[in-house]
Amino acid sequence: MRKVLVTGGVGYIGSHTVVELIEAGYVPVIIDNFSNSEPWIIDRIEEITKTKPTFYEGDCGNKDFLNEVFAEEKEIDSVIHFAAMKSAHESIANPLEYYKNNLCSTLALLEVMSQYKVTKLVFSSSATVYGESDINPIPETAELKNQTSTYGTTKLMCESIIEDVAKSSSLKAISLRYFNPVGAHASALIGELPKGTPNNLVPYITQTAIGLREYLTVYGDDYPTMDGTCIRDFIHVVDLAQAHIAALKHLDITNASTHTKFNVGTGKGESVMGLIKQFESVTSVNLSYKIGPRRAGDIIECFADVSKINSETGWQAKFDLDKALLDSWHWQQSLVT
Ligand code: UD1
Repeated sequence: MRKVLVTGGVGYIGSHTVVELIEAGYVPVIIDNFSNSEPWIIDRIEEITKTKPTFYEGDCGNKDFLNEVFAEEKEIDSVIHFAAMKSAHESIANPLEYYKNNLCSTLALLEVMSQYKVTKLVFSSSATVYGESDINPIPETAELKNQTSTYGTTKLMCESIIEDVAKSSSLKAISLRYFNPVGAHASALIGELPKGTPNNLVPYITQTAIGLREYLTVYGDDYPTMDGTCIRDFIHVVDLAQAHIAALKHLDITNASTHTKFNVGTGKGESVMGLIKQFESVTSVNLSYKIGPRRAGDIIECFADVSKINSETGWQAKFDLDKALLDSWHWQQSLVT
């Protein structure tokens, strides 16, 4: 039995990872405070996997709570740390909340892990640590500069904290730098649940297509790219979830304390307009959209060099963008029926 503590395990990426963990024979123990997730997602995980995951409701920044979970569960083999606030936009308006939440939870977790001698950690980082990179595809060695949001800064700071702890202890850690997660589970039982108006592109598209929003605004078509819109690396959330399994396996064969950073993307850049056209083509829906001004803080182009994670763990993305967009669409449709 390989017990894996999953903080934020009811969220978008967390819930898909819990499913993949169960299917790979791990025993996930979820903690979540439902700040950006819904309790019924746990039932959906059970419906998909036919396994009821162990769940504790509480805040990852609360050391007493973490202590109780570690004491109760014993034998926690490793931790995947998702629990964090994740809106780049919101973080600019509420920096203190973002610093407090994202840093304190990571600090509390590292302290309790050390106390219980749990030495393996997979940290949920983001490609946002690269800021506007001079190089594309972006390798892990690229300079980390000018994060465009407090959210991005918190991810970088958490990576630095983990780096220092790994240097001074037996911690073995992997930070997975996610590019743009999209899609949903093929069952359409779990997927992304944005609170209020979505900030991210694909949930905005699916909500517009289903009639919840009048039209999508494309933020700028005058960028120096092929069609003038920004370029991103959209990765299917199930591929992303599987990267966490690859990371856990990699930590098992890592002897010394380390902190390794891996990009998790497809390695292919797609433009915003290209994605819209692809969505229309795979779903046969005509999307209502308008071209608007650029959104402050957006970077022009960002896609991953995935050769490191591929050569060191064997992981690579399996699903294409067609599948991701169809899965997102089916999930959106399931929410209104
Ligand atoms: C943002 C965050 C990133 C985070 C990711 C989660 C930054 C700068 N960005 O990435 O850290 O990991 O969300 O998925 O920190 N767009 C539109 N219209 C819309 C919405 C988006 O045109 O209504 C465009 C944006 O201008 C951008 C692209 O779509 O060019 C992707 O936007 P979005 O889905 O918000 O992701 P990012 O900004 O890349």
